[in-house]
Amino acid sequence: MIASETRSIPFFDYPHLFRSEEQELTTIFRDVGLRGAFILQEDLVLFERNLASYVGVKYAVGVGNATDGLLLALRAANIGRGDEVIFCSHTMVATAAAIYFTGATPIAVECGADHLMDPGAVEAAVTRRTRAILPTHLNGRTADMQALDAIARRYGLIVIEDAAQALGSRFQGRRAGSFGAAAAFSFFPAKTLGCLGDGGAIATNSDEIYQRVIELRDHGRGPDGEIVSWGLNSRLDNLQAAILDYRLASYDGVIERRRALAACYRSGLQSIKEIKPPPGPEANSDHFDCFQNYEIEAERRDELRAWLQTRLIGSALPWGGKAVHQWPRLGLNARLPYTEALFESVLLLPLNLSLTDYDVRHICITIQDFYQTSRRERD
Ligand SMILES: Cc1ncc(COP(=O)(O)O)c(C=O)c1O
Repeated sequence: MIASETRSIPFFDYPHLFRSEEQELTTIFRDVGLRGAFILQEDLVLFERNLASYVGVKYAVGVGNATDGLLLALRAANIGRGDEVIFCSHTMVATAAAIYFTGATPIAVECGADHLMDPGAVEAAVTRRTRAILPTHLNGRTADMQALDAIARRYGLIVIEDAAQALGSRFQGRRAGSFGAAAAFSFFPAKTLGCLGDGGAIATNSDEIYQRVIELRDHGRGPDGEIVSWGLNSRLDNLQAAILDYRLASYDGVIERRRALAACYRSGLQSIKEIKPPPGPEANSDHFDCFQNYEIEAERRDELRAWLQTRLIGSALPWGGKAVHQWPRLGLNARLPYTEALFESVLLLPLNLSLTDYDVRHICITIQDFYQTSRRERD
């Protein structure tokens, strides 16, 4: 099969997404602007209420971004100097940075074949100083919270979820972000629920954590304006909250579309033996994935990537091509052979609302052409 047509499919197309909602977004800008409602206003309160109800938790608190969300959640759970927090190295550096800036030590562990935190590796990493586990629900798939919760209970550990990529994902029927003591979501523009800049939220069922993060995100301010603790400035802008609330109302449709695109990829890639695609949307009844990313394992990944690039198809290496522990200047000093080998082959293919089914089929055919051509050249 030959990919007959040269068409450009960027990895992400921000202007296209903006254009598709230009009128609605402009109405929101005008409405918020004319009310002068920018910081800690009613749109934020409304969004927080709707988000909490969507995730299935008691509280959601809008913050500047998910990195701050993780940091504030860890601080609110009293994690700090002398503590160790276990995270999976196949994540954004932000996960580890949040731990680092509490004063605690980030301990990197392996992912498993599903690219998510390996519970066996977590258990092996527990020491006397371990206080928390920080799983990342990577690529819109929830980590194995049954196994991780069991480990947390066995060793008396707190769980804080990095749900930056997983709004709407479910594990055994429960939504990501509702398992741990707290969770952080990201609304970075390329996220499944994105805003027009940076944004994030903390989800929690704990009254205590809620009270602490409300203060921490706003200079340590208590309800009557008194400064009750050291805090930061990390508030979700009211304008962003208004945009997010508008988008949340149709978010289930967004997930359905992403799942349909993932199914389309799955059927287009399944016969290519050099590719290992992620599980299809219906593959495992424990998981309901929202496909923040479409991360494949590919033989001769770099050559494939170059082939796609010359055919105007965008792709990306997760985290710039390295797991967190592989950045030597961070000094994490871990050896994680499984993750390191995996990073030789992982590749992100475009998955966003600008894509048509036809685009996905075209990408799959172009990939198939690459392997067929290189097999022919070898024979
Ligand atoms: C897994 C993960 N954790 C944390 C973050 C940080 O989110 P933010 O950019 O909102 O700080 C991201 C963002 O890409 C992420 O993908």
